[in-house]
Amino acid sequence: MIRVIIGTQWGDEGKGKIVDFFCQKADFAVRFHGGNNAGHTVINQYGKISLHLIPAGIFNTKCKVIIGNGVVIDPEVLVAEIETLRKVLPDFSERLFISPRCHVIMPYHKLLDRLYEEAKGNAKTGTTGRGIGPAYADKVSYNGIRFADFYDSRLYKSRLEMLLNLKNKTIEAFGEKPLDFGETYRTSMGMFRKLKPYIKEVFQPLQDAIKEKKNIIFEGAQGMFLDNDWGTYPFCTASSAVAGNIHAGSGVSPRWLTNITGVTKAYTTRVGGGPFPTELFGAVGENLRKIGGEYGATTGRPRRCGWLDLELVKFAADLNALTDMVITKLDVLNSFKTIKVCIGYTLNGRKVRYVECDANTLGKVKPIYKVMKGWNQALDRIRRFTDLPREAKDYVKYISLFTGIPVSLVSIGAERNQVLKVSRKDLL
Ligand code: GDP
Ligand code: IMO
Ligand code: MG
Repeated sequence: MIRVIIGTQWGDEGKGKIVDFFCQKADFAVRFHGGNNAGHTVINQYGKISLHLIPAGIFNTKCKVIIGNGVVIDPEVLVAEIETLRKVLPDFSERLFISPRCHVIMPYHKLLDRLYEEAKGNAKTGTTGRGIGPAYADKVSYNGIRFADFYDSRLYKSRLEMLLNLKNKTIEAFGEKPLDFGETYRTSMGMFRKLKPYIKEVFQPLQDAIKEKKNIIFEGAQGMFLDNDWGTYPFCTASSAVAGNIHAGSGVSPRWLTNITGVTKAYTTRVGGGPFPTELFGAVGENLRKIGGEYGATTGRPRRCGWLDLELVKFAADLNALTDMVITKLDVLNSFKTIKVCIGYTLNGRKVRYVECDANTLGKVKPIYKVMKGWNQALDRIRRFTDLPREAKDYVKYISLFTGIPVSLVSIGAERNQVLKVSRKDLL
């Protein structure tokens, strides 16, 4: 089975938990885009850990984990993450692979991320400040540095010198102190040396795994509406979060995928700026944030909260041709008497689809809501989908009906085993 797991909203859908769940039986787990803007929370026998770069498959000691070429890597963050995991896990040096094609997030990328955001004032994107945008911008404009560039230290030195000269011009134009070449060279080389044992070509191992019919899980980051092309540009991220990006981002053709699994939170959240049609500003939104613990796993920022937006989820389902869907955080809605679900938008009284809207128009649409009855009870004792309260089953069935995608799992708590399997029959 070769499965890609992607977010169908604005990120933080609970992908980490679901990837960890599927990886119990995986031979390989692969990140293929994004960087440490991602925060994937996993709760299992090793405790509660938020992963930023290493795929959640690391917790299965038989699973090889790959950071594919499409990921941008802040070496300091990766070194720290490896050290944290080494404290709880047996030695994993033989099963962690970093592609030498990965681009490196340099100190100037983080600095420029901050300077651009500050200069944009109220129009800022609300980035995670991790240097993601500037690093990808350098990648596509041929000014990036890849791990492969570090092997020949003389070549690396001259490339860094050339690039730092370019970057320092911009940094100085912002009135900041230029970065020191010697220091940048020494720290980056030091980081490279620490990561070197893990930097190995990953193309052949993945090709062999496909031939041998191994179980591979691709771990998407962010979510569809943060995608650089299909999201709410310019309030988006720098990479492509669509399922098909496993190809460019890891070298595995989407032809091999058996499952394209969308993770959908039972309501909606967003961090940073940008339009959010179902956002709730009063007590209901505050309740969702409190009960759902909606604070960023990467930056700790409070997440904006609102009702489930099926106009968006349906678009994500069509865009990726999802084979199945996982609904997470259903338990967060336990105490709501009524629950609203957005089933479309109007703009100046006329129906309008997500795909017709740019970020500005999406900020003006009015959601059309269907009001559903809540279930008003705890779900923690439930072990089978059929034992859920009728209203909770109706909620899940409605999502499946509206999107046309079968729901295969429902998550009712943050821990690994708090999932209910759903069969096609259960959805009838
Ligand atoms: P990701 O970025 O998609 O991996 O999601 P995050 O880890 O950033 O945010 C999801 C949060 O919800 C984490 O704190 C998870 O531990 C938690 N979580 C995941 N699934 C569930 C669930 O079904 N119920 C509850 N209450 N929490 C969940
Ligand atoms: P996971 O994988 C939620 C958001 C930022 C900001 C925008 C651009 O945990 O779901 P960036 O730092 O990427 O340049 O910021 O994208 N963002 C996320 N929001 N979850 C994420 O990842 C995110 N990664 C980026 O908040 O609005
Ligand atoms: Mg997250």
